[in-house]
Amino acid sequence: MSIAVTTAWNDLAIHAATIKDTHLRDLLQDGKRCAALTAEHDGVLLDFSRQNATEGTLGLLLALAKQAKLPEKLTAMAKGEKINTTENRSVLHIALRADAKTKIVIDGVDQVAEVHKVLKQIKGFSDKVRSGKWKGTTGKKLTDVVAIGIGGSYLGPEFVYEALKTDPVAAKAAKGRRLRFLANVDPIDVTRALDGLEPATTLVVVISKTFTTAETMLNAKTLRAWLVKKLGAKAVAKHMVAVSTNLTDVAAFGIDPKNAFGFWDWVGGRYSVCSAVGVVPLALQYGFAVVEKFLAGARSIDQHLLKAPLEKNLPVLMGLFGVWNSSFLGHHTRALLPYCQALLKLAPHIQQVDMESNGKRVALDGQTLSFAAGEIDFGEPGTNGQHSFYQLVHQGRTVPADFIGFKNSQQPVMIKGEAVANHDELMANFFAQPDALAVGKTAGQLRLENVPEALIPHKEFPGNRPSNVLLLEVLNAYTTGQLLALYEHRTAVQGFIWGINSFDQWGVELGKVLAKQVRTQLAGSRGKGKAKIVGFNPATTALLKRYLG
Ligand code: F6P
Repeated sequence: MSIAVTTAWNDLAIHAATIKDTHLRDLLQDGKRCAALTAEHDGVLLDFSRQNATEGTLGLLLALAKQAKLPEKLTAMAKGEKINTTENRSVLHIALRADAKTKIVIDGVDQVAEVHKVLKQIKGFSDKVRSGKWKGTTGKKLTDVVAIGIGGSYLGPEFVYEALKTDPVAAKAAKGRRLRFLANVDPIDVTRALDGLEPATTLVVVISKTFTTAETMLNAKTLRAWLVKKLGAKAVAKHMVAVSTNLTDVAAFGIDPKNAFGFWDWVGGRYSVCSAVGVVPLALQYGFAVVEKFLAGARSIDQHLLKAPLEKNLPVLMGLFGVWNSSFLGHHTRALLPYCQALLKLAPHIQQVDMESNGKRVALDGQTLSFAAGEIDFGEPGTNGQHSFYQLVHQGRTVPADFIGFKNSQQPVMIKGEAVANHDELMANFFAQPDALAVGKTAGQLRLENVPEALIPHKEFPGNRPSNVLLLEVLNAYTTGQLLALYEHRTAVQGFIWGINSFDQWGVELGKVLAKQVRTQLAGSRGKGKAKIVGFNPATTALLKRYLG
């Protein structure tokens, strides 16, 4: 049964009409309401009092969660039931960061024990590379790593890499080492990734769940040629390793499966940063101990998701208000606004996590949805975003936003003679923006300021625009893990409410098939026979003619 035909859904639809008569300017005056619309876990404070909501709204959303059997679905996921029905797979990214005492048995095999076997293998390997015990073919230490991968085999690792680059503990551990990412099949990305690197001191990690992704395989061949040209064919054994579930193709490529780190079909690409996909490059750069803290942070949120009551459960609340804004208030876009430069790659990562997961048109049973699932995520660190797209967010469209801030900076600065430290300056903006969105500024206020009448409509801020505020202590490996898990679970919660499969991604297939046809055409037309362009519509035929001409 579609969730949209239930009483819980209908109650919310009716309630949405009444909430449109309220204004956050007034709702925010109610101290009891504000206190009720906050929740906290392990140093993460979620203030959702700036949502267009009353305590009654929360009650109705919790009823919807129960109607959608959210607790049962979360338990089924954590137990390893095959909830990704279109691919007949479990969804167990939680197992990737479970402690060694936890057991999750699928087909008689404890998956957590398997995870810890691979973690041990990665620890041994990364220690050897970092200490110089594992050397390149010229006998030099491998100080630089190029991680090749795309989508989930790239975005999560890059997000964590950037988050920790300026964390003092991680930065100290990374001293003298470099990590680059190569994702795009655009040859320009090869040049950018290799800038300043030498084959003799470079280790290439090929990361691909399937080991068939066209972009990754071409980039892997390109870097293999780069290594072999300088170091000879034997370079592959010492300078290339792989992360994949497909060890047969790893071997066929020429990488010894002994130098491969496995994972499992129950890890979705976009949920794989806590598998060898992220752990190998990050442990090489920052050392295994730092990565263990990252996994511990994610584990803290996993346990909270599974144990905390729904009304105090941070990812559940974030997911429920995502559904409220999107399905009931009609806001289809949302912004991720970290007031922390080190989180510059959070939005690109969550774009994939969320949009590849929930950008669906049918329910689990194949029936077309009667509502639009999924949201359009985008974002930019504050304060840069303020000087970019905030104009639209304040006076144009309503875009629910998540403001993410920290009590302390990774890199505090205080200039003599300034009124506040640089981090306080940043955070002054962090606290101001959610209220500017929520409260706005009225024509009456502008008149009191003697603003000329003709300018009043231009200077008026309607306000009543919703946001969440997430406040944490400081960005480090542990809190990066917490943020990752919060956003992974927010997406799953929304998918569970909407009744869709958040763990498959059939929508990426058609483009890949058509690209194959174009590739064959390009090879034929550029070849000796100069094959004629056939099999495309007139518009594409004209474009291809121009491209080849
Ligand atoms: O874009 C489609 C996709 O399958 C993603 O889901 C995945 O993260 C990415 O391609 C890369 O896949 P692989 O790790 O198999 O190379």
